[in-house]
Amino acid sequence: MVSNLVIIKLQEADKIPYDLLLLADPSRENVDKYIFNSAIYLANSNGSSIGCYVLCPLDNNTIEIKNIAVAIRHQAKGLGTHLLHDAMEKSKIDGFKKIVIGTGNSSTRQLNLYQKLGFKITAIKSDYFRDNYDEPIFENGTQCTDMIVLTKEL
Ligand code: ACO
Repeated sequence: MVSNLVIIKLQEADKIPYDLLLLADPSRENVDKYIFNSAIYLANSNGSSIGCYVLCPLDNNTIEIKNIAVAIRHQAKGLGTHLLHDAMEKSKIDGFKKIVIGTGNSSTRQLNLYQKLGFKITAIKSDYFRDNYDEPIFENGTQCTDMIVLTKEL
C-alpha cells in the first residue's frame, strides 16, 4: 500500500477536495447536493491528498458512503479497500447499524469490490442516472442508467 498514510476528517473551513470527489461522481452540482450535510475523510500520504470518502447519515441507524475515490496513480494498490474498512469501522463506532453505498449498473469493478467486502444488493433505482445527470454517462461502452444500492450490516 502507500507509505505514511493518515486519514483525517475535514473541518468546515477546510477546502472541499473536488478533484477527488469528481472522480467518483462526475457532476459537481450533484456533489454539492450532499457534501454540505456529510463528513469528508481525506487520505494523506507524505503531504499529498490521495483519496477520500464521504459519509452521510440517512437516519439514526443507517449511514451512506456517498463518495469514495482514490487518485488515479494510486488506484489498484489496496487503498480503496482500506478506506472502505475505515468507513465501516468509524460508522460502527458512531453507533450506526447499517452502511449503504450506491453505484452505477456499469461500474462492474466497483460492484465487485463492494460485494467482496460483504455488501449485498438491496435495491435498484431504475433510471436514476438518466433522470439526475445532464450528460449521459458511459463506462466501457455501457450506459450508466440505474443505481445499484448495496447494504452491509455493521
Ligand atoms: N476502478 C474501479 N475499480 C477498481 C479499479 C479501478 N481503477 N482498480 C481496482 N478496482 C477494483 C477491483 O475489483 C479490485 O479488486 P482486485 O484487487 O481483486 O482486482 C478492487 O477494486 C480493490 O482494489 P483497491 O486497490 O482496494 O481499490 P482502489 O484503491 O483502486 O479503490 C476505487 C477503488 C475507490 C473504486 C478507485 O478505483 C476509484 O477511485 N475509482 C474511481 C472513482 C470511483 O469509481 N469511485 C466509486 C464510485 S461509487 C461511490 O462513490 C459511492
